Amino acid sequence: MQVSENIYRIGGAYLVIGDKTALIDAAPRGGEGALIQEIEEILGGRQLDYIILNHTEPNRSYGLGAVLERYPDAEVTATVAGIRNLKEMQSRPFCEQAAKDNAVLNLGNGITLRFIITPNISWPDSMVTYEENSGTLFTCDLFSEGEKLMTYPDYVENALKRLSELKITAVMPAEGDVLQGTDIQKAFDVYYGLLDKYREQEKNKTVLILYSSHYGATREMAECIRAELENAGATVTMYDTDDDTIPDINTFSAIIAGSGTYERGASENVTRALCGVNAVLMRHKPFFTFGSHGWSGEGANILHTMLVSLGMKPFSKPFTSIFNMSDETRERLKRHTRKFAEFILN
Ligand SMILES: Cc1cc2nc3c(=O)[nH]c(=O)nc-3n(C[C@H](O)[C@H](O)[C@H](O)COP(=O)(O)O)c2cc1C
Repeated sequence: MQVSENIYRIGGAYLVIGDKTALIDAAPRGGEGALIQEIEEILGGRQLDYIILNHTEPNRSYGLGAVLERYPDAEVTATVAGIRNLKEMQSRPFCEQAAKDNAVLNLGNGITLRFIITPNISWPDSMVTYEENSGTLFTCDLFSEGEKLMTYPDYVENALKRLSELKITAVMPAEGDVLQGTDIQKAFDVYYGLLDKYREQEKNKTVLILYSSHYGATREMAECIRAELENAGATVTMYDTDDDTIPDINTFSAIIAGSGTYERGASENVTRALCGVNAVLMRHKPFFTFGSHGWSGEGANILHTMLVSLGMKPFSKPFTSIFNMSDETRERLKRHTRKFAEFILN
């Protein structure tokens, strides 16, 4: 589909025609046949001179192999990290040109492509491509995906900051409509809204308590922890993983996870819930684990090890009780929780 005088859209990819020709992004697995067919129809007998990959995730780049088979002399441009990935992904050698930030590729006939490196727009190797004369921005995942990109909010903010300095008349994303006019600012505003939401979450010190308890001893501990945290002024959300639907656990500033020990293991439901921890967003956030046991006591340790391996920061070693808490253990748990509250609130 022709989207401007010199630009054609083919699925999530764009073909730009100057004196030289450039394909921007490719196709997912299964889309390569249609991609090649359309490129051939548009180019007629002309050569494809350049293939630009804004990032190398296979949903955008998989078709590169087929395009290179048809146009083996095309020069491939991506960021340094992108070229490295493509070399691992492709079995055939190809001509390559790593894109430096702000480097320019002149296609002739008034078409000049500028590469703007925007790391971690879902993958580390990301950039966007800007056609300077018409003000057309080829954004790949940016403006295609919303909340999913917010794993790296700081990087999204940096990308928007840089792009907002450009004069943009059209945004051409991999997914969704081409944006023009007031829709461009609206699309920026969607991300600004998501960033505001994220910053707000970061400011509020909200603690998630997750637990499972077959006979009530671990539940008693969870309730004691909740009461102490609330006394200290923290906002607490508590879920019994056996009964409740667990929310997005990556919006909390700290996690406290508890399980009894059952056959030398931890509760399957708590373990499954903790699999939802996003190791990027929750990195370095504080946690501690707790639980009641009878003899060997692995439950709370397993949860502890899981959260450590997901990059969260242990506040302490697991807090455990043998069967129901004694008065002495309850007092210790209260003191422990107060210290944790102090740690996260200050
Ligand atoms: C089926 C079953 C298996 C258990 N296996 C272990 C175990 O391997 N090691 C251990 O220390 N305690 C074990 N226990 C004891 C529990 O961990 C203990 O009763 C604990 O207080 C349970 O916590 P809850 O009341 O929160 O469920 C087991 C209990 C049950 C019911």
